[in-house]
Amino acid sequence: MKVFVIGSGGREHAIAWTLARSASVREIVAAPGNGGLAEIARCVHADVGDPGELADVAEAEGVALTFVGPELPLVLGVADEFSRRGLKIIGPDARAARLEGSKAFAKEFMARHGIPTARFTICDSAAEARRAIASRRFDFPVVIKADGLAAGKGVSLAHTHEEAEATIERLMVERALGAAGERVVLEECLIGRECSFLLVTDGEFVVPLPPAQDYKRAYDGDQGPNTGGMGAISTPHLLDETTHERILREIAWPTVRAAAQEGFPYRGVLYIGLMLTPKGPHVLEYNVRLGDPEAQAILPRLESDLLEIGEALLAGELSRVRLRWREDSTVCLVLASGGYPGTYQTGHPIRGLGEVRRLPEVMVFHAGTTRAPDGSFLTAGGRVLNIVARGRTLAEARQRAYAAASLITFEQMHYRRDIGAEWTPT
Ligand code: AMP
Ligand code: GLY
Repeated sequence: MKVFVIGSGGREHAIAWTLARSASVREIVAAPGNGGLAEIARCVHADVGDPGELADVAEAEGVALTFVGPELPLVLGVADEFSRRGLKIIGPDARAARLEGSKAFAKEFMARHGIPTARFTICDSAAEARRAIASRRFDFPVVIKADGLAAGKGVSLAHTHEEAEATIERLMVERALGAAGERVVLEECLIGRECSFLLVTDGEFVVPLPPAQDYKRAYDGDQGPNTGGMGAISTPHLLDETTHERILREIAWPTVRAAAQEGFPYRGVLYIGLMLTPKGPHVLEYNVRLGDPEAQAILPRLESDLLEIGEALLAGELSRVRLRWREDSTVCLVLASGGYPGTYQTGHPIRGLGEVRRLPEVMVFHAGTTRAPDGSFLTAGGRVLNIVARGRTLAEARQRAYAAASLITFEQMHYRRDIGAEWTPT
């Protein structure tokens, strides 16, 4: 069977790598792909922001099934376009993808259904937002979120009145994020540990994936600017059984049932970003796809066939599927370009990939690379490589991941040294 993966990052490389292990997958096409994906898939050019073009690729290539990595095509209706043309695709339609596409929509949805989330107010103008800040309905720090898609740049924490004013000015007057900041959500700041809880659903039945933890800040000790993610871990002990049950009962199932009840049954992967507060788990955000870099940590633990899961999902038969997971723990390190998440250079040669390839239980997913004509790899993005290692324990996975990372070099490479450290005290 020929399958199609949409996207160009480490998450998409991990999806393709997982599909490549399926006995039924004969060929993988990726659009637009990257240097690493090109080793296991045929990369074709297509704009991920153009559902029509993506459907054209699927038709021309005669693919049997399509997996979508990033949120943009889903929010723009790629699943609707594929369905109209009778093409099979895993991912929610545009109505369901509003859970990520509009934070205001997601918050009102949670409020309607009693799904625990931070207290909030939605503001449609700068004046309204300033009034809400002045009313002191929220203590400082207050969280200010752009309503629309902002590639991880839409959330700010304001510690003072002045900071809140400045953020509102930037989003709503200067329109620094364009239309995404036309509306904002103000919300109370929740305190606790964060956890990424992902599930697959066919619109009725919920199958949770093992929880993961993402490391969003650029530097060790959760310092520095927010990034797309500098690492992730997945280990059987991230959530205790009571909390896991509670997330399923209070958040995961109610979300899927409520979406169906409101007329937009959710089909695909749903990523629930959670804050584990003293008052229980609260939803920070919904994402309508696998996380990046969470997918790179989660998928290497999957024993079941990803293609079969996708087919069961489309057939509405997920309740019959029993997912099998390795008991192992995984650690994913993100090797980034100097300057990331700010400006950075590209085109630097990457060395050491050959040595890493020989290491057991280590996987390398490419996030931002291209392949030079001589077959070597060059940096081509802010996040360049994901080094993922499995181990019987998290400590063993960490040790393997860091040993592998130490073999890779490229100019101005940087990565965090503390991924998973708080779970493996020495
Ligand atoms: P989001 O894109 O909504 O997940 O927000 C990105 C990050 O901002 C989250 O992963 C949290 O670290 C932080 N964040 C978002 N909402 C809140 C909140 N209500 N309280 C505390 N931190 C938050
Ligand atoms: N790792 C965060 C995200 O995928 O949104």
